[in-house]
Amino acid sequence: MRLVARGVTFTYPHAQDPVLRGVDLDIPSGTSAAVMGPSGSGKTTLLSLVGRLLGMQGGAIEAIDADGVVRHPYEVAAWVFQTVSLLPDRSALDNVAVGAYLDGADRDLALRRAEAHLAEVGLAGRERDSARILSGGEAQRVAIARALASRRPLILADEPTGQLDAKTSAAVLDAMIGAHAERTVMIVTHDPEVADRCDMVVELRDGEAHVLRGGPHAARRTPSSRVRGAGVTP
Ligand SMILES: Nc1ncnc2c1ncn2[C@@H]1O[C@H](COP(=O)(O)OP(=O)(O)O)[C@@H](O)[C@H]1O
Ligand SMILES: [Mg+2]
Repeated sequence: MRLVARGVTFTYPHAQDPVLRGVDLDIPSGTSAAVMGPSGSGKTTLLSLVGRLLGMQGGAIEAIDADGVVRHPYEVAAWVFQTVSLLPDRSALDNVAVGAYLDGADRDLALRRAEAHLAEVGLAGRERDSARILSGGEAQRVAIARALASRRPLILADEPTGQLDAKTSAAVLDAMIGAHAERTVMIVTHDPEVADRCDMVVELRDGEAHVLRGGPHAARRTPSSRVRGAGVTP
């Protein structure tokens, strides 16, 4: 799923200045893109427009599949929000299964997938724990597992590793961007280590997007270079 933004502008109601002044972005299918930039530069705003949490004011945002069919990205995206939202009274397993239900999975399949993805983010053995007793970092990992369980071809993640230590962060990145080369991932992050592991790095500055590395014109990586741990210096 290719993600394209053209000339995206956005000004919050009552604000003096636009946050986004014409953002152009082209994230090729199967690419992981880190969106960086100073606090307040509009990263969450851009992600919210991609996920249609905010209405478009100017420009266009499109998700284009391999057959050239154009959709709004929100139709094909799974979210990992900055503020993790889990069903507090349900188990970790049930929370992840919600993602699979989104994909039309029946209960058995959803629970099997949920178990696998919880293990993938390092939470094997915590399936039955109620979401409300999980730590911030554990809840964040459940939210990531839920997005993975949806099998959606596009993941939108806002600071998904913000509450994780370096080792756990590396493991969930493997699950999110390493394990499925066909998935397109847009990750808002402050963490240079997260950006290092992405195929493409974009910086939002003065309301515009600047590609720092990678992108449609960069040499294509073969899928095999994106297997677990590939490209990471020990
Ligand atoms: N709901 C809102 N109403 C008015 N201003 C907002 C709102 N949300 C964010 N902003 C402002 O828009 C700018 C960009 O915010 P945001 O996209 O959250 O930045 P980032 O995620 O890069 O830190 C900031 O100056 C912020 O204060
Ligand atoms: Mg933000």
